[in-house]
Amino acid sequence: RGSIRLGLLGCGTVGGGVLELCAANARWLEGRVGAPLEVRRVLVRDPRKERVVACDPRWITTRPEDVVDDPEIDVVVEVMGGEGAALELVERAISAGKGVVTANKLLLAKHGPRLVDLAIARGTDLAFEGAVGGGIPIIRTLREAFASDWVERLAGIVNGTCNYVLGRMREGGLSLDEAVREAQAKGYAEADPSLDTGGHDAAHKLCVLAMLAFGARVPASALHVEGIEGIEERDHRYAERFGYVIKHLAIGRDFGDAIELRVHPTLIPKTSVLANVSGVLNAILLEGRALGPCMLYGRGAGDLRRP
Ligand code: NAP
Ligand code: HSE
Repeated sequence: RGSIRLGLLGCGTVGGGVLELCAANARWLEGRVGAPLEVRRVLVRDPRKERVVACDPRWITTRPEDVVDDPEIDVVVEVMGGEGAALELVERAISAGKGVVTANKLLLAKHGPRLVDLAIARGTDLAFEGAVGGGIPIIRTLREAFASDWVERLAGIVNGTCNYVLGRMREGGLSLDEAVREAQAKGYAEADPSLDTGGHDAAHKLCVLAMLAFGARVPASALHVEGIEGIEERDHRYAERFGYVIKHLAIGRDFGDAIELRVHPTLIPKTSVLANVSGVLNAILLEGRALGPCMLYGRGAGDLRRP
C-alpha cells in the first residue's frame, strides 16, 4: 500500500513530540506499520511561532478544514487540547471515516463514550493511549491484559504536574506557585494549570480509566475531586513527622453494584511503592480479581527535549 498520511491538530509539547518521533524513527515505524507515515498538514494557532521540531513550513496551516476535510489525510492526530474546537474537529474526522488519535483526556472524559460509538459506527479507530499516564501503556493493558478479568480496584498518581509540584514543595522548599511555574516551563502542565492543581485533569483521566476498567460511563462532575491548592509547606512537615508523604491520587473501586471514584491528596506511608514515585513520574496500580495486583510506572508528562 501507499503511505499513511497524517494530519496533526496542534504542534506544541505533544504534537512536537509526535513529529520528532515520526522523523527520528521513520524506517522503524514503516516496518512496524507496514507503510511509511507521511505528515501532510499541521494545524496551529500562530503560524509565525518558531517551532523547535522538524516541522516543514509547508505543512503549517491555520485552517482546520485543511486537516479534517482533506480526503487525502488518513489519520488525524488531535493534540491541540481543549473541548470546543477539538470536539468538533474530532467528530468531523471520525465522521469522514478517518482514524483519530487523541491525547485529550478532557475531551474523552466528557465525550469519550459517544466518540467511541461514533468510531465503531463509522468502522474506524479512535486511539488514546497518550491520554492517561503519558508513556505508560495503561490503555492497552486494561483493554487487552485485563480484558477477561474483573478490575476490583485501581489507584494511581496520574497527574505529573501535581506529583512534581508536591515533590518540589516537600524537598525543594518551593511555594505552590513557584513549583507550578517550573512545571509549566518543563511542559508538564495543561494550558490552564488550574486543571492540574485543581485535580480536574486527574479526574478526567479517572473517567477514562473507569470506562475501560469498570465499563462505567461516569461524567467527571459525578466524582469527588480535590486538588493540591490547599496543601501548605507545614502539611508536608507534619506528614514527614508521622512517616507519611502526601501524594495526589486517583482512586477507583468496583463494588459490583456501585462504583467509587475519587481524586484527592492522600497521606501514604513513606515505605509504600507509590510514595517513592517522584518528579513527573506516574504510577497506576490495578487489582484484578483473577490476575491480582499489577503496577505500571513511567513518565507521565512533558516534552521529549526537556526531561
Ligand atoms: P500545547 O503545548 O499548548 O500545544 C497545543 C498546540 O495546539 C499548539 O501548537 C497550538 O498552536 C495548537 N492549538 C491550540 N488551540 C488551537 C486552535 N484553536 N486552533 C489551532 N491550533 C490550536 O499543549 P500540549 O501540552 O501539547 O497538550 C496537547 C494535548 O495533549 C492536551 O489535550 C493535553 O491535555 C494532552 N496531553 C499533554 C501532555 C503533556 O505532557 N503536555 C501529556 C499527555 C497529554 P500554537 O503552537 O500556534 O500555539
Ligand atoms: N498536565 C498533565 C500532567 C499532562 O501533568 O499529568 C499529562 O497528561
